[in-house]
Amino acid sequence: MYMFTYYVNNTERVVAVAYISDDLLSEIVAANDIIEYASSFMTLKKSGRQYKACCPFHNEKTPSFGIDRDKQLFHCFGCGASGNFLQLVMRLEGLDFQDAIKQLADRAGIVIPEDGERRASAAAQVKERIIEMNKIAARFFHDCLGQEHGRQAREYFARRHLTKKTIIQFGLGYAPDSADALVNFLKTRGYSDRDIEVSGLAVTGKNGLRDKFRNRVMFPIINARGKVIGFGGRIMGNDKLPNGVRLAKYLNSPETAAFDKGANLFALNLAKNSNARDIILCEGYMDVITVHQAGITNCVATLGTAITDRQARLMLRYGSEVLICYDMDEAGTKAALRAIDIIAAAGGRSRVIRLSGAKDPDEYISKYGIDSFRKAIDKAMPSTEFRLHLQKQEYDLNDTDGKIRFVEAAANVLAAVNDPVEVEAYIKKTAKDTGISEQSIFGKYKEIKGRQPRSPAVRTKEEHKRRELSRINSSKPPQERVSAAARDAERKLLSIAARSKRLANRAAKLITPDEFSDKVYAHMAQRIYESAAAGEEADPAAIINEFSGERESEDQAGAVFFNREEYSDDEQTLYDLIYKIKLDRLQSKINAAEQPEEIGRLLEEKTKLIADRGRWQSIN
Ligand code: UTP
Ligand code: MN
Repeated sequence: MYMFTYYVNNTERVVAVAYISDDLLSEIVAANDIIEYASSFMTLKKSGRQYKACCPFHNEKTPSFGIDRDKQLFHCFGCGASGNFLQLVMRLEGLDFQDAIKQLADRAGIVIPEDGERRASAAAQVKERIIEMNKIAARFFHDCLGQEHGRQAREYFARRHLTKKTIIQFGLGYAPDSADALVNFLKTRGYSDRDIEVSGLAVTGKNGLRDKFRNRVMFPIINARGKVIGFGGRIMGNDKLPNGVRLAKYLNSPETAAFDKGANLFALNLAKNSNARDIILCEGYMDVITVHQAGITNCVATLGTAITDRQARLMLRYGSEVLICYDMDEAGTKAALRAIDIIAAAGGRSRVIRLSGAKDPDEYISKYGIDSFRKAIDKAMPSTEFRLHLQKQEYDLNDTDGKIRFVEAAANVLAAVNDPVEVEAYIKKTAKDTGISEQSIFGKYKEIKGRQPRSPAVRTKEEHKRRELSRINSSKPPQERVSAAARDAERKLLSIAARSKRLANRAAKLITPDEFSDKVYAHMAQRIYESAAAGEEADPAAIINEFSGERESEDQAGAVFFNREEYSDDEQTLYDLIYKIKLDRLQSKINAAEQPEEIGRLLEEKTKLIADRGRWQSIN
């Protein structure tokens, strides 16, 4: 747990104290992308699994600064600077630990509970307890698999060609054919009825608490941090009970404080360690398990629901492209089209793996072997080609009318594509397929594109990022927040300069009065610099007097001279504050900039600022 202090205005009145759990902390960090974050400070180039840039912490011409996206770590081979995501935020933005966490929480739109310790920890405790119970349940199910009553389940897994190693790796198990085996087991471990109910492992019926999963093979769902957050359970045989009731083939845990279906993926805990470039998305648990067992470990599935935007972003964190490998039926095709859209809207690219002669990847691998599956992966169709391919099947291209209607449909597909090179390539291909000229097809495409409002599904990654930023920014009053932070830094800087002529002279060399965002402070900086240059102490009364008549400005000016804060190293603090002020200023310009050239120029300025910072001490 970490203590949080909330500040209001620049008098630093503590209004609330909250605690942030380790869980929330890792959630906040995980909700951000270190690459996306860092790329607003430096120009990053991908090199293998890593990203490289010129080091922001020392001056260099060739990049020796690397970021590992998966590990969320940075390291400079030049100056030795190294650390995790949070430390990167602290160092780049000159923030302390708490403010760095707040910064990342803001970026991800996560609200750190402000109303004190109780609420924050109560929610965290419920979640932690569910995860604890899930872990116990997973062990229980797994143990049952090895016992006498687990024979049928063992045979079931054997029929599905799962090895012992796979069963252990995925933590598979068996939920006994009993109404309360797990409930009773949890009770012996000290959990109350209420605990068990909120865990989703049991349901309350006429006869009290009853096990949710009965006589099923069990698939624990484990998040990227290795915690069991829920389960899927499959029937082993007939889906009809003797009394005629039909059972769902798969039963999944309900959403709980620990289980957010739309934000997790089956087997991500394993897939995230794969070194593959892309990530394979299947529909079913069994598909994923079979693919992993065959040695392809970059494979995940959704959790019994359609893919969400959050899942798309999660996959794009671990793979540069998503290879969709859904079932080969109509429902699977429809779902693939949806997935393509959602992935595109999340700023990513996808391809579609097509398997013939089997209904799903699991069956395909059993029937044709892993080499055939690998070949199908290599031949995965780019999403646009897939869409065109589906359209093509709808029309008879031997027939003139069929050709015309196909061209119209193809132009519609292409109107949703953002990359002009891609559009051109597919226009060429469509011309070849139909014998209709590229010009005519291009004309059709222009016509449709002209009357379409731009589809949200076709944003580029850049656009997406920008929209995301503005969404995050517009969800809070950015003006207030940014200026409060800037004013706070300006006040502290002036109070240091006001008590040391030497440091005032240093400040004068590094930051001009008009770089202060607050008018009162800008004026004070001017006066304090002048005095220092003349070899005199600044005269507080005289300076405050210059604002006489304006109550607020007087108070504000006075506060500078009454600042009693002690810093262990005034000079270093001064540099840190100057850096923070300059950086904030640049960042708001970057946020407001529209033209790519301007953004480029500002980013360069930012890179320079970051690089120059280390030299300030030696400037005379
Ligand atoms: P499928 O019906 O395609 O099953 O459902 P499957 O993956 O091929 O499973 P096997 O091979 O018959 O064992 C795909 C996924 O949809 C969800 C599950 O996540 C499943 O893995 N599903 C399916 C449910 O949640 N409930 C159901 O009743 C069926
Ligand atoms: Mn299947």
